[in-house]
Amino acid sequence: MKLNKNKNWIYAKNIIPGGNMLISKRSDFLLPDYWPSYYKKAKGCFVWDLNNNKLLDMYFGVGTNIHGYTNNKIDKRIHEVIKNSNMSSLNSYDEVLLAKELIKIHKWPSMAKFSRSGGEANAIAIRIARASSKNKNIAFCGYHGWHDWYLSSTLNKNNSLSNHLIPGIDSSGIPRQLKNTAFPFQYNNFEMLKKIVKEKKIGIIKMEVQRNYYPKNNFLQKVRRLATKNKIILIFDECTTGFRENLGGLHLKYKVYPDMLILGKALGNGYAINAVLGKRNIMQAANKTFISSTFWTERIGYAAALACLKEMKKKSFFKKIIKTGKYIKKGWSELAKKNKIKIEITGIDPIPIFNFENKINIEASTYLTQEMLKKNIIATNCIYVSIAHTKKYIDLYLRELDKIFFKISKNKHNLKKLIKGPLKQRSLKRVN
Ligand SMILES: Cc1ncc(COP(=O)(O)O)c(C=O)c1O
Repeated sequence: MKLNKNKNWIYAKNIIPGGNMLISKRSDFLLPDYWPSYYKKAKGCFVWDLNNNKLLDMYFGVGTNIHGYTNNKIDKRIHEVIKNSNMSSLNSYDEVLLAKELIKIHKWPSMAKFSRSGGEANAIAIRIARASSKNKNIAFCGYHGWHDWYLSSTLNKNNSLSNHLIPGIDSSGIPRQLKNTAFPFQYNNFEMLKKIVKEKKIGIIKMEVQRNYYPKNNFLQKVRRLATKNKIILIFDECTTGFRENLGGLHLKYKVYPDMLILGKALGNGYAINAVLGKRNIMQAANKTFISSTFWTERIGYAAALACLKEMKKKSFFKKIIKTGKYIKKGWSELAKKNKIKIEITGIDPIPIFNFENKINIEASTYLTQEMLKKNIIATNCIYVSIAHTKKYIDLYLRELDKIFFKISKNKHNLKKLIKGPLKQRSLKRVN
């Protein structure tokens, strides 16, 4: 497609602070000024922009649609729900069925609550854990949403979230009283966590099981033991890693079990649903506090999750996703070698990520996104693999990537000149 300045996005920024609702879908983090930004429709692994350009999506949002866009089997169930009303004075029994299913899959939890977004689910989990625990402070690793409990760490000495998430993140709007209530720790740095636990009256540890890096030296087992020894509630935020490699949270693979668990994203194939699971003695503390919301009773998310689970229970489902992720990683590695450029490949197989060497990373990835878009491909340096990403489309993408890597290799020192608009901003740093 021909790259044109996106006037719709420029207009949106005038009437919507930041331009949209999710930072990872902002043009500024992808291809400032030229990103297509808006879609008309999406199907399988394709997206049509407002100018009817059909784009192969090798980014895939933030990993919501693991079954592909507008998946017939899941959407059939949603159409039935709409036909029979997605809301009423009574509750939808689908929420009970979903709680039952998720408890059955994970075995260790005995109760569940639900929300629409991951940030909300994280806030629910923290509220319940704080209501249940004597110590109220939190040690956390990774990204867990936008709520005050999390952002309060920007009030700590040296703005600890600046190193952990995005540089320069501000503490505006966060009550000063929350200072020194949440403390970040680095993934695989057990000594750091141990020191925080010793010094900061920690009652809750919240972390992703894994993101970009694999756990080292029994890190997860050590965290579990530390939590148990100090009567700390361990929460795994598997909003993104859940239902990615296996049926349920990734912790099932590592056989390390938390006290509470958050699941989301892949659970509903784009329909809004997040779950908080936990042990009975902790979850019952929800009754001591106030947690309630109108649209948490809306039926679509629950029905979508139940339909997704049915698909994900098929034996080949996760095998296919992992196989595709491995194939992409292998392709990246071979193309980098062939074109003599250095890249670091990380991420679990269903969410492969690569970075160029530090000094050219931002220029090279902006250039990559720009050149891919010219070929009608949406691409960054991370792919949320879906079942719709078949070999045919990945090979097509890799053929284009080969040409782009070649150009990057030849123009390492003057990439900026080849970029039409401003450079993309550094996106969320994933420290785990
Ligand atoms: C681990 C984790 N927790 C929480 C969130 C926030 O979820 P949401 O954007 O649905 O509020 C995300 C989103 O990227 C996430 O990856």
